[in-house]
Amino acid sequence: MTTTATADRFSDIKTATLSHLEAHGCGCHPYADGGLLATLTAATRASTVVELGTALGYSAAWFACTGAHVHTIDRDPTHSRLAQVHLARHHLADRVTLHTGEGVDLLPDLALTGVDIAFFDGYPPTTAAIGALAAALRPGGLLIAGNLTLGGQAHDIRAQLATWQHTDLGDTLLAVKPAPR
Ligand SMILES: C[S@@+](CC[C@H](N)C(=O)[O-])C[C@H]1O[C@@H](n2cnc3c(N)ncnc32)[C@H](O)[C@@H]1O
Repeated sequence: MTTTATADRFSDIKTATLSHLEAHGCGCHPYADGGLLATLTAATRASTVVELGTALGYSAAWFACTGAHVHTIDRDPTHSRLAQVHLARHHLADRVTLHTGEGVDLLPDLALTGVDIAFFDGYPPTTAAIGALAAALRPGGLLIAGNLTLGGQAHDIRAQLATWQHTDLGDTLLAVKPAPR
């Protein structure tokens, strides 16, 4: 599950992210398969996406290139600033709203509702972060929970989403929010 370099229209952002990671050791690993994110967004005709874990804007660019609007959150202001530069270079800045802060604190304040896709790409994975993203999703919306091989509360997240229609790709769990009963 990886976007090949030749198919990667945002390889410049991925390369910049990996260079930043090497220089700072800040854990900003770009998502392995940006093409998967765009394919899921296009296939579900998603118009709004919320993402926890902007880094330098690689995954946000893949979501936004489908035409969706992306709200993306990162607690590191340097990452948000660099993401703004990369997204502007790809003429995607107007499709991405950058928020800087701790995801679990910011999400309730943003009060996003009816979102089509919610993507967790922070660390460590926590049930609180997944819960806050799930609250923003519409029924039938898609939760993409990444970084589940990084420990944290991955086991509890799998239990949290067990009753949702889901498929477990190992590092990433795809789950559809059920309709209220
Ligand atoms: C794995 S990187 C995200 C990679 C990005 N999605 C991409 O594909 O390039 C994780 C990022 O999430 C941020 N982060 C991690 N946990 C967070 C949290 N709880 N709240 C806000 N930001 C968080 C880190 O600062 C880092 O920039």
